[in-house]
Amino acid sequence: MDLFEYQARDVFEAHGVPVLAGKTATTPEQAKAAAEEIGAKSGGVTVVKAQVKTGGRGKAGGVKVAKSADEAEQYAEQILGMDIKGHTVGTVMIAQGAKIAEEYYFSILLDRAERRYLAMCSKEGGVDIETLAVERPEALARIAVDPNVGVDEAKAKEIVEAAGFDAETGAKIVPVLQKLWDVYREEDATLVEVNPLVKSEDGEIIALDGKVTLDGNADFRHPDHEALEDKAAADPLEAKAKAKGLNYVKLDGQVGIIGNGAGLVMSTLDVVAYAGEEHGGVKPANFLDIGGGANAQVMADGLDVILNDEQVKAVFVNVFGGITACDEVANGIKGALEILGDNATKPLVVRLDGNNVEEGRAILNELAHPLVTQVDTMDGAAAKAAELAAK
Ligand SMILES: Nc1ncnc2c1ncn2[C@@H]1O[C@H](COP(=O)(O)OP(=O)(O)O)[C@@H](O)[C@H]1O
Ligand SMILES: [Mg+2]
Repeated sequence: MDLFEYQARDVFEAHGVPVLAGKTATTPEQAKAAAEEIGAKSGGVTVVKAQVKTGGRGKAGGVKVAKSADEAEQYAEQILGMDIKGHTVGTVMIAQGAKIAEEYYFSILLDRAERRYLAMCSKEGGVDIETLAVERPEALARIAVDPNVGVDEAKAKEIVEAAGFDAETGAKIVPVLQKLWDVYREEDATLVEVNPLVKSEDGEIIALDGKVTLDGNADFRHPDHEALEDKAAADPLEAKAKAKGLNYVKLDGQVGIIGNGAGLVMSTLDVVAYAGEEHGGVKPANFLDIGGGANAQVMADGLDVILNDEQVKAVFVNVFGGITACDEVANGIKGALEILGDNATKPLVVRLDGNNVEEGRAILNELAHPLVTQVDTMDGAAAKAAELAAK
């Protein structure tokens, strides 16, 4: 999950990273009130900053320095509703204005290929860091970070030296990098980027912009992270599936997919896409792994999510009975159709194989539900589902 800048600012502050005061606003009036309050700390100067989860806001006109609260109100009026790289601005942050002497760059990220972390740092930060990285890569220091050690004082010194900071500035940056490492480690982030990290005219080091990506796999360790989710932006079907504890990813095809086991579901997506080529390019509509618990309620929850996807024209239930036997799955489908009643409106193609397959097929044969078609093979079922979806 990516955080908004204002959320990153709050997380930084909580870990002792030096940041400036900031307050969000969703209307020009709120922006004015916030600028009156925040500007009091910086001679009336504030910066109105678009809160969108994309970089390059400054270049797009989404970051404006306001000399008074009235000016902040006008800028908020301009920036709210603006489109920045496909993101509509719904919130601005009114930040205290900094007197910037120099702009630096620092980031720490997960280096999957090397199985460790990578810290990057440059004396030349700011809005052109991407150009710098391409044209003068030597100006961007890249230092490997051992996950078992992290950015301790020695590592932070190594980073600032590699970036070429003078001793005095380097010494001021070192503790800030250690705190940014605390953010990275303690929040289970996969990216912490500060651009710019600035030196103010009075020599202070401040994180002026923050980009943080949190690792969703570690959510169980961070109940507080749920509050950071942008519920408004989440796909409503994905949100519903998540609330029901389902492993669901929305795709944009027409064949709804339910299977047990991530590997089986992934190969089901492939066979459906392949079969769909015969039917005008019909594609899978989602990934949904019901795992081992294919009981009636889980099946009903899964079908409920998929059938509510307007793009879905047919559903393919592909189950290989292992620990969960096929008769349990068949009873799950039967129970799900009872639970859903008239809400089940689209054809279901069911392929059962594995543990207790005969019993499972017999249950569905006996049910003889008008929407359910059984096909014995995975390829055959994929072809049938694609055909029904193309009708
Ligand atoms: N609080 C602030 N005070 C003064 N200048 C700022 C402030 N925040 C940002 N800026 C200036 O605006 C530029 C762009 O802002 P930034 O937050 O980095 O947005 P983005 O990276 O999306 O363009 C910064 O490089 C800095 O020069
Ligand atoms: Mg920036």
